Amino acid sequence: MTPQHPANPTAPAADSGRRSGWWRDAVIYQVYPRSFADADGDGMGDLEGVRSRLPYLRDLGVDAVWLSPFYASPQADAGYDVSDYRVVDPMFGDLADAERLIGDAHGLGLRVIVDIVPNHASDQHAWFRQALREGPGSPLRNRFHFRPGQGEGGELPPNDWESIFGGPAWTRTVNSDGTPGEWYLHLFAPEQPDLNWENAAVADEFRSVLRFWLDLGADGFRIDVAHGLVKAAGLPDIGRHDQLKLLGNDVLPFFDQDGVHEIYRDWRRILDEYGTDPDTRRIAVAEAWTPTVQRTANYLRPDELHQAFNFQYLGTAWDAEALREVVDLTLDAMRPVGAPATWVLSNHDVVRHLTRLGDGNDAEQDLRRARAATLLMLALPGSAYLYQGEELGLPEVLDLPDAVRQDPAFTRAKGTNAEGQEGMRDGCRVPLPWSGTEAPFGFGPVPGGPSWLPQPAEWAKLGVEAQTGDRSSTLELYRAALKARREHPALGTGDSVTWLDAPAGVLAFRRDSPDGAFACFANTGDQAVRLAAPGRLLLASEPVTVVEDELVLPADATVWWAV
Ligand code: GLC
Repeated sequence: MTPQHPANPTAPAADSGRRSGWWRDAVIYQVYPRSFADADGDGMGDLEGVRSRLPYLRDLGVDAVWLSPFYASPQADAGYDVSDYRVVDPMFGDLADAERLIGDAHGLGLRVIVDIVPNHASDQHAWFRQALREGPGSPLRNRFHFRPGQGEGGELPPNDWESIFGGPAWTRTVNSDGTPGEWYLHLFAPEQPDLNWENAAVADEFRSVLRFWLDLGADGFRIDVAHGLVKAAGLPDIGRHDQLKLLGNDVLPFFDQDGVHEIYRDWRRILDEYGTDPDTRRIAVAEAWTPTVQRTANYLRPDELHQAFNFQYLGTAWDAEALREVVDLTLDAMRPVGAPATWVLSNHDVVRHLTRLGDGNDAEQDLRRARAATLLMLALPGSAYLYQGEELGLPEVLDLPDAVRQDPAFTRAKGTNAEGQEGMRDGCRVPLPWSGTEAPFGFGPVPGGPSWLPQPAEWAKLGVEAQTGDRSSTLELYRAALKARREHPALGTGDSVTWLDAPAGVLAFRRDSPDGAFACFANTGDQAVRLAAPGRLLLASEPVTVVEDELVLPADATVWWAV
């Protein structure tokens, strides 16, 4: 095989983007605390459950754990509605549990990233409750976006913005005398009033919250809705419905406004106060939905954040050409700012990649494709995010009864034209199977005990215990991949790949380092292809045969090579 791009030399130079910094090649595992492990048997995961399973994560081979919110919350949006940013919700434990969890993780060599939710608070947050009590004109109302309504009696919302969860982004309040009052803005559920970042008290409060968790030992933050904090001056109308669908193309007046960058420059100064040693640095990763990867890169300028999720990659089909294009776009966008690319296939907001990339007709084929997609992702330069349960090959649960669903997007979108965030996020949040043949499969301590969402009976076969030691299992594939990623010098950090000639439907690239080269072939097509073996086989997502230096690469398979 020869490099395809004319600008690539035949013997590629070592990747110039290999810099130091633990986050640059970290594999970060997302724990969704409600659904990871339930130590006290109430059917809801908790911090003690997470702590008890940390050795599992160390053995899996990840570098860091990101915990979705476990703070005091009425749980209107599964904890993304925070009523006290410094308190652990009793359903998850207490602050001492959080401290123990962070301490144990550090003892095992794992870093801990916590979620921070600065775009909105809970409607039960003390500030919002008091703002409501004090009524129009209260300076506390200025910490949120309160506005009089339009129309003669103020009966219409202040503008035409729509909630991401469906329906209008405004809810009308009731005055203390029972008359209809002002409206407040909530880009998500009505229980999640947006904070006003023009107000100095808001910025001060979050500086203090950041320090609170950094002092407790957190290694960084995942910033929820990082692109939403600043709203365009005057809160202008958009003039169209289905605004979510515009997300991919336009800068909306409530998302990705340039003013957000000032906030992150400020936060970066705080993170840097805790040290700038590349091995211990505290970091932040932005959840920023932007129209392009170039705009995502703005969050990663040298004086801003360290990483941002690559949602463009997450949204790419299992198609060699499309994947190559998004990989190039990403690396080209990250190089000028010197930030690592990140790659992600699944999280708690999207359909699990096994189901999303598959065609749903053949479960075995869906699994093959998911495994191939994972090996491709883990071969790319930069950092990767895994979502709990993908290492077990869990599919999305598509048949949850309406009665058990808790996603506010589901209830709000129902009966309206808006689809919200597809309204179906519970299907990727079903508690993990660990062991045994009876639900909750070791998620909770007692066989036959509760789990907040029901698990499919077939998940008995997918538990950690059932897969451990079975070399053909998805869990063992992840373990082997993460081990190879640590050991091979050309894997992990970097800012470029060298594309190789390959038949249609196949993605092939190599990566070079002074200590050895690596190659990856991924077949996204529906036919097996024959390819010359470029070196020693390291790992394959499916059994493959190499005969006389020729490889037969099945459909939906990825192979790693030491070159
Ligand atoms: C982010 C979270 C999502 C949540 C939303 C509102 O997108 O990932 O789960 O519903 O923010 O906080």
